[in-house]
Amino acid sequence: MDQRIEIIRGDITKLHVDAIVNAANSSLLGGGGVDGAIHRAAGPQLLEECRTLLGCKTGEAKITKGYNLPAKFIIHTVGPIWQNGNHDEDELLAQCYKNSLRAAEQNHVESIAFPSISTGVYGFPIERASRIALREMNEHLPHAQTIQKIIAVCFSEHDYRLYLASAKEFDERKKI
Ligand code: APR
Repeated sequence: MDQRIEIIRGDITKLHVDAIVNAANSSLLGGGGVDGAIHRAAGPQLLEECRTLLGCKTGEAKITKGYNLPAKFIIHTVGPIWQNGNHDEDELLAQCYKNSLRAAEQNHVESIAFPSISTGVYGFPIERASRIALREMNEHLPHAQTIQKIIAVCFSEHDYRLYLASAKEFDERKKI
C-alpha cells in the first residue's frame, strides 16, 4: 500500500482534513447513514448549496463547502446500489473514487477522507468494495498533484478489520 494511505476507524465528520467524501444519493438532498451525519454536522447551509447542484449521477462527484465541519470541502459522490454484480457495480464504484479524487485535485486538496461508499444502505459487499477503494487510492497517488494523504474511514470495528485485511492482501499480491 502507498504510505500516504491510512486506514482508520472513526466518524468522518470529525476529521480535520481538507475534504471529506459523502456517500450521497442522486438527489444530493441528504439521507441517512454517513450522508445524514454529514448534513447534520455541516448544518443547513450545506443543503442550500446542494440544492443548487441539481443532483448527481451514480459514479460522479460534486464538491461543496464544508460549512460547520472541520473539513474545508465535502465531495459528494453517488455509489451504485448493489444488485448482483452484473450491473457495472464494480466500475461505477471505481468511478466514485476516481471522480472524487479528480474533484479534490481540481480544488488543490492535500488531505482527503473517504467513507466506505455503497457498503451500507446500498448493500455493496464490503470485502469487494474495499478492494476497489484501496486499488483506486493506490493507483491515483503516483500521479497526484496536490493530494498527499488519503484516509479510508471505517465506522465499525468489523469494517475496519475487513479494510486492514484487504490492505494486507493488496501488499501480498504486489510481492508476487
Ligand atoms: N463516518 C464514517 N462512516 C460512516 C458514518 C460516519 N459518521 N456513518 C456511516 N458510515 C459508514 C457506514 O457504516 C457504511 O460503512 O458509511 C458507509 C456507507 O454507508 P451509507 O451511509 O449507508 O451509504 P451507502 O451505502 O453509500 O448508501 C447511500 O444511504 O444515507 C443514504 O442518502 C444516502 O441514499 C443514500 C444511501
